Amino acid sequence: TILTLDFGSQYTHLITRRLRELHVYSEMLPCTQKLADLDWTPVGIILSGGPYSVYEDGAPHVDPAYFELGVPILGICYGLQELAYRSCKDNVVAGTAREYGHAQLQAKSVNGHVDRLFENLEGEMKVWMSHGDKLSKLPDGFHTIATTGNSPYAGIAHESKHIYGIQFHPEVTHSENGTTILRNFAVGICGAKTNWDMGKFVDQEILRIRKLVGEKGQVLGAVSGGVDSTVAAKLMHQAIGDRFHAVLVNNGCMRLNECETVHKTLTENLGINLTVVDASKLFLDGLKGVLDPEQKRKFIGGAFIDVFEAEAKKIEDAAAKSDKAGKIEWFLQGTLYPDVIESISFKGPSATIKTHHNVGGLPKRMTEGQGLRLIEPLRELFKDEVRALGRELGISHELVMRHPFPGPGIAIRILGEVTPERVEIARKADHIFISMIREAGIYDDISQAFAGLDSNKAVGVMGDKRVYGYMIILRAVCSSDFMTADAYPFTNEFRKAVATRIINEVDGVTRCLFDETTKPPGTIELE
Ligand code: XMP
Repeated sequence: TILTLDFGSQYTHLITRRLRELHVYSEMLPCTQKLADLDWTPVGIILSGGPYSVYEDGAPHVDPAYFELGVPILGICYGLQELAYRSCKDNVVAGTAREYGHAQLQAKSVNGHVDRLFENLEGEMKVWMSHGDKLSKLPDGFHTIATTGNSPYAGIAHESKHIYGIQFHPEVTHSENGTTILRNFAVGICGAKTNWDMGKFVDQEILRIRKLVGEKGQVLGAVSGGVDSTVAAKLMHQAIGDRFHAVLVNNGCMRLNECETVHKTLTENLGINLTVVDASKLFLDGLKGVLDPEQKRKFIGGAFIDVFEAEAKKIEDAAAKSDKAGKIEWFLQGTLYPDVIESISFKGPSATIKTHHNVGGLPKRMTEGQGLRLIEPLRELFKDEVRALGRELGISHELVMRHPFPGPGIAIRILGEVTPERVEIARKADHIFISMIREAGIYDDISQAFAGLDSNKAVGVMGDKRVYGYMIILRAVCSSDFMTADAYPFTNEFRKAVATRIINEVDGVTRCLFDETTKPPGTIELE
């Protein structure tokens, strides 16, 4: 196992992710982790980047004991500066020009050989830089192994110990050969085993869950039918069986036949212990007259917790009567790493909270009020890894590849007031759009697609009569991380066919509009 110590860079998780791609297991721990408190010995250590300046008051510093361990160490960006600062405080200075973006890196050749860190990487390569500080001189005992136009010490290595530092970020895909550099370090220099796979993740997580929850502990979790909550639920079921209670709340703004489909899949195919609560009336009544998008979200979020809390109480009461289990102490969340990064960061300056993401926020009242503790088995993983994990757990391709669906559902795709009639129209149009995308064989090429509803109406002519009807907005985007997105390039033929079917089959619709806006500046959802 490689130990990755996190100094708070937004890229740290990408390090562990790239290592997983190389089938090398890496555990990521905060940079404050003391070696003495670790009950295992890493074969190598990576010090991540971070948003601080090593010479600042309060900047985090690594436990010096790691340097006595004798295992190879690689410092990336802040990690490099930390290595240098350790040997002499004057080694790191604020750069005259901050450097963000691509740089041309040249690995230095000595007697015709580049350093082992750059094995098989002769010649120039593009790397990604993101730093303000830089080394002003080489730390004692080190030599230069790579340079860029702006950084004479873009890569350094110790003369006799296996200690390396690089100024650029090999973990981001913008760095050509970044994965090779990480492989050279982890496998070549540290000798890490390359036997990690998703099957091992399942085994590890199941053990971890069982240890956390204990023999009688019970876990509650909300499911939505989306891939994240389904994968988390399946993993939990595999770990503790029926001591895991899944709850699906029908908020009246779900897709067509969604609750029935989810119920069937989760109970019949995956064997998960699921309760479906139909609260659609409560939600739709509460949404009457609400026009403001934030208010919609707030109402739905609040009502969700009310319904969920009431259900939890019932489950808890029933559980208390059975002999097999104790109190419900845990709450499962299918939080992924990108959700975490959008919401929190290691006390860093980039700590922004996106209100609509559920990280920690959803069950706050429950967790604080009832002492429920969060359990988040997917929090280290990225979407594609969750999909791979889903496959490993025997979840169908169709479910694993499902487009994401927001918690507030169709309500944030209906501009203006959410009424039962408008939900029905958006839902039917959405069903036609998605079915046609599936039939065209392009569902898996699109990251997210849906039909929404405009707040205005438009005139149309139907059967010689002038009618005044709804306008459907169709949106389909491609995105790797949902932070940026591009419109999917449908053919004109496909567009016309979708518009014709929706107008013919959904009563009350007179127009179909395609939303081609990129994100940014648009968002994926309409509200
Ligand atoms: P936006 O609209 O912010 O969406 O570009 C990015 C991704 O997040 C999803 N999304 C949500 N998911 N609750 C959720 O569970 C929400 O309130 C919410 N709002 C947006 C959206 O579907 C897209 O995948």
